[in-house]
Amino acid sequence: MPETVHGNLKSNQARVGDKQSMATSTRSPIDVVIVGGGMITHDQILPSIYHLQRLGLVGAIRVVALNSAPLRTLAEAPRLAEAFPGQRFEALPSLDAPAEQMFPDLYQEAIAALPPDQLVVVAVPDHLHYPVIRHALACGQHVLAVKPLVLKYAQAVEIEKTAHERGLFVGVEYHKRFDRRSLEARRQYRAGRLGEFRCGEAKLVEPYYYRHSNFQNWFTKENSDPFTYIGCHYVDLVYFITDLRPVEVSVRGVEGKFPNGNTGYLWASGQVVWENGAILSVTNGLGYPDEGPGTNDQGLCLFCEGDDRGGYLHHDDQYRGCSYGYVDQKSGAAFRYVSPDYFRLVPWEGEGLKPVGYGYDSIEALVAAAQRVNAAGEGFSGEQALARRREMLEAIDRRGLLATPANSAINELVTEAARLSIAHHGRHVAIQYAPSPMVRWREG
Ligand SMILES: NC(=O)c1ccc[n+]([C@@H]2O[C@H](COP(=O)([O-])OP(=O)(O)OC[C@H]3O[C@@H](n4cnc5c(N)ncnc54)[C@H](O)[C@@H]3O)[C@@H](O)[C@H]2O)c1
Repeated sequence: MPETVHGNLKSNQARVGDKQSMATSTRSPIDVVIVGGGMITHDQILPSIYHLQRLGLVGAIRVVALNSAPLRTLAEAPRLAEAFPGQRFEALPSLDAPAEQMFPDLYQEAIAALPPDQLVVVAVPDHLHYPVIRHALACGQHVLAVKPLVLKYAQAVEIEKTAHERGLFVGVEYHKRFDRRSLEARRQYRAGRLGEFRCGEAKLVEPYYYRHSNFQNWFTKENSDPFTYIGCHYVDLVYFITDLRPVEVSVRGVEGKFPNGNTGYLWASGQVVWENGAILSVTNGLGYPDEGPGTNDQGLCLFCEGDDRGGYLHHDDQYRGCSYGYVDQKSGAAFRYVSPDYFRLVPWEGEGLKPVGYGYDSIEALVAAAQRVNAAGEGFSGEQALARRREMLEAIDRRGLLATPANSAINELVTEAARLSIAHHGRHVAIQYAPSPMVRWREG
């Protein structure tokens, strides 16, 4: 990790741009191209972007997918129609294109057609993030990428450099950062009230039915694994809360077959060692019972030490104190825990429903960041505009709430180490930060 990056998070000094970065500035509407029309686009991204559109903060919305089928599903989704009456996106390819015809490069045209300084949301499978992000930056667009940003540290560094050179914002959508419990934990931990993290565990197990979804086409051994896909959320959270950097990773995978016969890692058990020697165990998988109350299982537990006493942080991220027994089967089961915290569409004073929760807060904050960068350069031209945009980007990096390639590249180091480890049956991989950040086999 370059000194400047880690040092940024540890510094409380306000610098030029910081005040402006926190102030609410006038936000001109920004056009959005969403690349990828799958589950995350349906569940979180499109409803958030629709809401920002009706608030006047987003202009035109286009969604590009590999073929027309997922776009049709999105366009006809009753949940979206109920919440956002009258709102539409432009589908690329068009909804009447034959479902079997593939358009793997259409995203390039859609992005190239945008005026400069708009926003590209990257919501394609993990291993495709890198080419889409590169293309968006080459076309002068801000980027909002779902996690993990990319699978290699060197790619994150390249993205950071290109974006900074061009005065463009790249944010990674680690929405758990916006869960109020994470923000509270960060504040209390950093104030020293919980002591120092020493040993703990995290788990996130997604439902079994994921195996029957489009996942079976891409979630294969060579592309991803449960630690990379969802374990990364909790690795990022421990870093977000404690400011500790990970220094060693080992991940064992449990292989299995998807319904279409593809082989993937369906479970993973990881261990992450942090720079103070603390250890985090991470359990992930695609196998929570579909009819369980969950609808997944997740949480974080950190045991800490203070001055001759123990400290403790426990987040039950599955059961948030709200459960419903339904008299119908619309939710897939008669009894469910309901998380009002992540993402809900609820009644409001306006038409339809509005999104609430940290899933929306995260998207809203990332879109606002891109708009703040645009606003910083307004009224200036050439080098002066670029310098002001860069100041804003650096202020966002220093603030450390939004994950950017500059302030969260530990995640790419962990992902790269994890991919290496899981392919070698859990061999330990070290992360070194000096003289330059890299992953390597742990010696001894
Ligand atoms: N909790 C989270 O943060 C979270 C949750 C789910 C997914 N994700 C991430 O979101 C990404 C997508 O996941 P998903 O669950 O939506 O997957 P999905 O399989 O449901 O959807 C993938 C979409 O990408 C599109 N696509 C593939 N290749 C394309 C191309 N060349 N051009 C345009 N579109 C293309 C497909 O058409 C499909 O619509 C992954 O990186 C995943 O890790 C994050």
